[in-house]
Amino acid sequence: MEYKLCTPCLFGLEGLVSDELKRMGMSQVAAENGRVGFGGNAEDIARANICLRTGERVLIQVGQFPAESFDELFEGTTALEWENFLPKDAAFPVKGHSIGSALHSIPDCQKIVKKAVVERLKKTYRTSWFEETGAKHQISFSIMKDVATIYLDTTGEGLHKRGYRPQAGAAPLRETLAAAMVKLSRYKGRDSFADPFCGSGTIAIEAALAARNRAPGLNRNFEAENWALPHGIWDKARERAAANEFSGDYEIFAGDIDPECIDIARQNARRAGVENDIQFQVSDAADFIWENKKGVLVTNPPYGERVLERRQAEDIYRAFGKRMADAKDWKMYILSSHTEFEQAFDKAAGKKRKLYNGMIKCDLFMYL
Ligand SMILES: C[S@@+](CC[C@H](N)C(=O)[O-])C[C@H]1O[C@@H](n2cnc3c(N)ncnc32)[C@H](O)[C@@H]1O
Repeated sequence: MEYKLCTPCLFGLEGLVSDELKRMGMSQVAAENGRVGFGGNAEDIARANICLRTGERVLIQVGQFPAESFDELFEGTTALEWENFLPKDAAFPVKGHSIGSALHSIPDCQKIVKKAVVERLKKTYRTSWFEETGAKHQISFSIMKDVATIYLDTTGEGLHKRGYRPQAGAAPLRETLAAAMVKLSRYKGRDSFADPFCGSGTIAIEAALAARNRAPGLNRNFEAENWALPHGIWDKARERAAANEFSGDYEIFAGDIDPECIDIARQNARRAGVENDIQFQVSDAADFIWENKKGVLVTNPPYGERVLERRQAEDIYRAFGKRMADAKDWKMYILSSHTEFEQAFDKAAGKKRKLYNGMIKCDLFMYL
């Protein structure tokens, strides 16, 4: 069976998610704002969940229709073939959001969608009461400018939850954003790689996973593994991903001034299975040693909003900028929301790219 699929992502990452899906051989890849649509079968659902680095989840698009009123939302939802997706005992909670639409009360829309699905299933299963004791099939709706799109979530806990980071430092970067920064740096395991403000180690770990071509979802489970999809697709997708791994020696440095962060980062890397690929060190970024090396530096120093005061952050940028002033053989990708970053670092970035770290609007300052 061919499905219409969709991967929501952080704003600014649509192009990277599209590239990943195309490389996986998915069909009809089409980027929109904050999401990428594509086509695929059940095996592709398993592959996308296990292998995607920069997408947030994998949704099946069950249907799309205009919905300016509750009646339209109800009729449109009942018209969808829910019996093809939901077994009789399925648990099917509903959540969603609405933007710029006449239907704006989320609790009311949730009730209508739930009622409509029940109405449809009643006919198929000849019952008026559903116990919902079986596998969870999360339904989500998005109403954008009076058009409703109804999805089933195959992922469960978001894809950024790789399973290696139960503990994080004070201001951890989302794993999907760290993976995106590594992708933008084009690091593939050849030159040296460094994150001198590593915190919980997310960027260095994502760099090691990328260098090894290790699928980020190999060590976790997904909601749709409990569904009645064709037998063996998950094992097959895991085996295929594992067979594509590289082995090699990588030079990845992760430093932080805080010894506790380095402990946490090392534990996270151990859980991700890449501890031996990363050299951890308690060190001040202002002393970062780059001589006799050529490499890629991807980092997320303190901004001032969350970890330190802005002035202190500027002092850190100043000292780090001084240290890196002559590092011509290093490409640098520095994520900061600080508007004065370039002044303090004392160098204008060759390129900048807007990225969102949660709700914080940041720039990725690129020195190429
Ligand atoms: C925004 S956090 C990095 C978060 C990290 N990307 C993660 O995913 O956990 C910034 C880190 O810089 C560290 N730091 C602050 N000043 C530093 C300095 N002078 N040298 C090295 N690390 C420093 C802090 O201890 C903190 O862990």
